Amino acid sequence: MDGIDNQDKIEKDIWSDAGTTRVPFEVYQSPKIYADELEKIFYGPTWNYVGLECEIPKAGDFRRNFIGEREILLIRKEDGNISVVENRCAHRGAQLCQSLSGNTGTAIMCPYHQWTYTLDGVLTGMPFKRGINGKGGLNPDFDMQNHGLLSLRVETLNGVVFASFDKDVAPLKTYLGNNMEKYFTRIFDGRGLRVVGYERQVIDCNWKLQMENLKDPYHAGILHLFLISFGLFRLDQESKCLVDDSKGHSVLMTAKGTEEGKEDTGGVRIAAPDFTLTDHDLIKPRMEFPDNITLSIQTLFPSIIVQAQCNTLATRHVIPKGPGSHELVWTFFGFEDDDEEMRDLRLRQANLMGSAGYVTLDDAEALEFSQLGLTGLPNGQSAVLEIGGTDCESNDHLVTESLIRGFYMRYRDVMGHESGTK
Ligand SMILES: [Fe+2]
Repeated sequence: MDGIDNQDKIEKDIWSDAGTTRVPFEVYQSPKIYADELEKIFYGPTWNYVGLECEIPKAGDFRRNFIGEREILLIRKEDGNISVVENRCAHRGAQLCQSLSGNTGTAIMCPYHQWTYTLDGVLTGMPFKRGINGKGGLNPDFDMQNHGLLSLRVETLNGVVFASFDKDVAPLKTYLGNNMEKYFTRIFDGRGLRVVGYERQVIDCNWKLQMENLKDPYHAGILHLFLISFGLFRLDQESKCLVDDSKGHSVLMTAKGTEEGKEDTGGVRIAAPDFTLTDHDLIKPRMEFPDNITLSIQTLFPSIIVQAQCNTLATRHVIPKGPGSHELVWTFFGFEDDDEEMRDLRLRQANLMGSAGYVTLDDAEALEFSQLGLTGLPNGQSAVLEIGGTDCESNDHLVTESLIRGFYMRYRDVMGHESGTK
């Protein structure tokens, strides 16, 4: 037992006195830490994105999704409300629905022994409940009420659905905080949503590296030559990085300059300075929100990103798949009241994003380089996060890693890891 206790202690104490300016490489590869993350973060007191209401418009419509590694079903009930239940039969644990989406009618039936549930997971029947001719079947005192599907807490905010395994989690708006709710509802402003399309990709790196990447404006002005070359994002643009009080949520925003190719690139090489675009609609935003922001990336703890780059809007859902891999699911959306021109722009500008996007193509490659680089290093080595200082505060510039340092402040709180001094 001493050995196990000692192992726990070592994993809580991996952070040095340098605080979140040093992220130990163990957190990206230790199976023990990964198992703890699933329990304490994904199955703990967090709100997890599970989809958009517009994806399940009719009674019986469902979509499969994941919270951590557990499968859930997002279901539209007959009364118009939404339920989220685990996609696992209460009998022998079989997966209930195999399709990514569909309509299950008025009941959910397990394909194995046909145990049947209501749309919010109440067990209503099974074949041969009383056996045959009084023989076999279930004991009469078997209480059906106690054998329903595991049902999660659900809250929606302007058409976006969140769920939690923790029945005692704080209300969603409290969890987000006023400032993050303000930026969330800047995009999800209450208008009806429509799905423009999906992309799914598997990236072989730890899920936290994906979250870090969306909290890392520094890389975006260096790695993404498409952004730099055509002025969509540069580190000298008018910008803001905001963190919430808990430090786990953040939003970064920029306003695009008016001239292509004239800003300060900070010495970053441009791959082909003579290249020009023939289709300028690809990078020309039609202003649609009541401000001059042309890029906003909001990251909500633990694993959802809301992207608005020009007129391409998307949720990016990060689904962990073991310590060294994750799936990234992009749901591109627009609004029901989009006119023809806007519908076209959303599709056209979606080419910037996704697994083969002109911009985000670079991210998956760089993130896999990161995982390859840190794998197998001896314990005690860390990433260095000192760009923009050592704090986790909001900024009015982009040359900073403060949002990543903030993410790890929240992470350590939830994981119960010992805090450093910063
Ligand atoms: Fe990027």
